[in-house]
Amino acid sequence: MNRLTTPFGSYELTRFPQDPRDRLRAWDAADEYLLHHLASGTGDRGPVDLGGGRQITVLGDRWGALTTALAAHHPTQITDSSLTRSATMANLDRAGIGTAKDTVTLLTTQDEPPARIDVLLVRVPKSLALLEDQLHRLAPRLHADSVVVGTGMVKEIHTSTLRLFERILGPTKTSLAEKKARLIFCTPSTAATAGTAATAGTSGTAGASADPWPVTYTVDAEGGSGAGLTVVNHAGIFCADRLDVGTRFFLRSIPNNTNGARVVDLGCGNGVVGTAVAVADPRAEVVFTDESYQAIASAKATFRANVTRDRDRADFLVGDGVAMLDPASVDLVLCNPPFHSHQATTDATALRMFAQSRKVLRPGGELWVVANRHMGYHTHLQRLFGNSEVAASEPKFVVLRAVKRMERERRP
Ligand SMILES: C[S@@+](CC[C@H](N)C(=O)[O-])C[C@H]1O[C@@H](n2cnc3c(N)ncnc32)[C@H](O)[C@@H]1O
Repeated sequence: MNRLTTPFGSYELTRFPQDPRDRLRAWDAADEYLLHHLASGTGDRGPVDLGGGRQITVLGDRWGALTTALAAHHPTQITDSSLTRSATMANLDRAGIGTAKDTVTLLTTQDEPPARIDVLLVRVPKSLALLEDQLHRLAPRLHADSVVVGTGMVKEIHTSTLRLFERILGPTKTSLAEKKARLIFCTPSTAATAGTAATAGTSGTAGASADPWPVTYTVDAEGGSGAGLTVVNHAGIFCADRLDVGTRFFLRSIPNNTNGARVVDLGCGNGVVGTAVAVADPRAEVVFTDESYQAIASAKATFRANVTRDRDRADFLVGDGVAMLDPASVDLVLCNPPFHSHQATTDATALRMFAQSRKVLRPGGELWVVANRHMGYHTHLQRLFGNSEVAASEPKFVVLRAVKRMERERRP
């Protein structure tokens, strides 16, 4: 296990889900730089006053390192990731802190933010759209004396990132780089924090623009079983402004008639795949799962925009893959798997999803996966399920189908 030593204490931290083979740390130089700055200051900027009942909000903490280190100051964490939330709870527990009411508050990006924020700490997210949306949501909770400090690795902070802080909150500067990390110092302007940020038309100054999220589009006639659907997208979700090419191919390839099956849209994003199933088969029961709260909110909205009857045949579950479902409880899993996890490109999540799918499928149940051909998922499916066939293919993508056989059927 890895130990992070900070001016606030020393903590054993892990990611979630914990994987003993995973040597990746649960924090990085950007977290360390921010914690050091808060305690001791940077350059000509002094330390940040965290005492005296100041409300501290931590936005975008990756695995809970910032929230755990600052726990004595009762921070509020806001995250879009249920994996971050689970990691934070495990890390707080290990530090003997827990999440009782008087220690830290864990909120999601969909929850009502704290009424007043005195210190806002922002771990810059991968998605500029999510940052834009969250800064818009938090701006009215800041005041002229609020301290706003962002942090990120140099490669994560672009001119567009700084412009966003500047446009939504106020004047913004950066620190020198240290261990390839950088801090962002932002001074909220009165216009941004007065709660009147949504006055579109006056451009250039902080607080001048409205939050453009969520956005909606209609799937065109080439979108297979998704054609004509209204798709609602909250900020930060996968391919929020148009139908992804892989998803389009999937919608053209998945079974038309699911015969009242229990179907999972695994890693549902905006929920277009599961909603297409629900519309095509009015008897289908659809479970939407994603680790992102923004995704689940989008899937709910997409489902409600297209399905007017028997809405209670859908479930919307935030968490890791299908870990929350009972074994042998599902007939069909549809999955366009992620190839990133918190910045890193990896197939680890996809492979975990396939193994979890096998557990929750009933004998005879099927997992359908769309992926870039070069991902080579057929080998993994063959190993896990004992079978894998190509259900559809085009030059760039394949749709693979694996059937859960009875145990004895798998033996040679
Ligand atoms: C490639 S996107 C597909 C989204 C949607 N199904 C589509 O086709 O547009 C993969 C999705 O998996 C989600 N995801 C990533 N890690 C996950 C996990 N551990 N458990 C559940 N969902 C996860 C992402 O948030 C993302 O929405």
